[in-house]
Amino acid sequence: MRVIMLGPPGAGKGTQASRISQRYDIPHISTGDMFRANLKQGTALGQEARQYMDAGELVPDDLVVRMVDDRLSWDDAQDGWDLDGFPRTIGQAEALDELLEEHDTPIDVVLRFAVDDDEVVERLSGRRVCRECGEIYHVHANPPTEEGVCDACGGELYQRDDDQEEVIRTRLASYVEDTEPLEQFYAERGLLRDVEAVGDIDDVTDRTLAVLADIEEPPPR
Ligand code: AP5
Repeated sequence: MRVIMLGPPGAGKGTQASRISQRYDIPHISTGDMFRANLKQGTALGQEARQYMDAGELVPDDLVVRMVDDRLSWDDAQDGWDLDGFPRTIGQAEALDELLEEHDTPIDVVLRFAVDDDEVVERLSGRRVCRECGEIYHVHANPPTEEGVCDACGGELYQRDDDQEEVIRTRLASYVEDTEPLEQFYAERGLLRDVEAVGDIDDVTDRTLAVLADIEEPPPR
């Protein structure tokens, strides 16, 4: 299964991608997580990405595409993947098409998660993330058992630097300008499927898995 998660910041892409990844035993590839890991390790790539991420702007396409090209060549990504946060521009989508064509590994579906701006601000200002394993929480919608501690690995939970209201607004504007055109790009290829992203997290997962099960159905004879 090769899945792309599309939707504004805070739509729940990471939350649902991690569940899809467990269900289908495919890697959850998040370009945001990859940049944050590089930042934590102090790599040159992380340093370069930082200025854009802190401002809520997109990292230049060539840096992102090189990173994804490398990640898709790993052994665990040969039978499928769930791409979260990539592609985010038409340029990235075209570059991805080229990469996939070389390996004859087409995209199965592009899932679009829609939520309104006020919900995005509410979700992101309450988001907490594990420093160790990246597990995602929300102070109200999905709190950890013990405040500040990850249920999965016991790691420390923190608030992302870019989850401040002003930066969130810039990220939303960038989504509309740079990423929304991808909806038509993939709709024209018959790949776009909507998932109602508002409501209980488990209900959103049920709806997401129902869409994936539907595209897995063999075509009628
Ligand atoms: P990235 O990390 O990809 O951030 P994003 O796309 O802005 O998405 P988020 O991670 O903020 O949200 P999400 O949809 O995954 O929501 P989540 O599941 O966490 O990118 C960060 C930066 O990196 C970018 O700004 C850019 O600078 C750079 N970058 C990354 N990729 C790039 C690319 N391809 N090109 C260029 N630059 C790139 O959920 C959010 C919160 O809501 C959580 O607290 C969660 O618990 C809660 N929640 C989830 N579902 C629900 C629900 N149904 N009800 C209530 N709460 C919910």
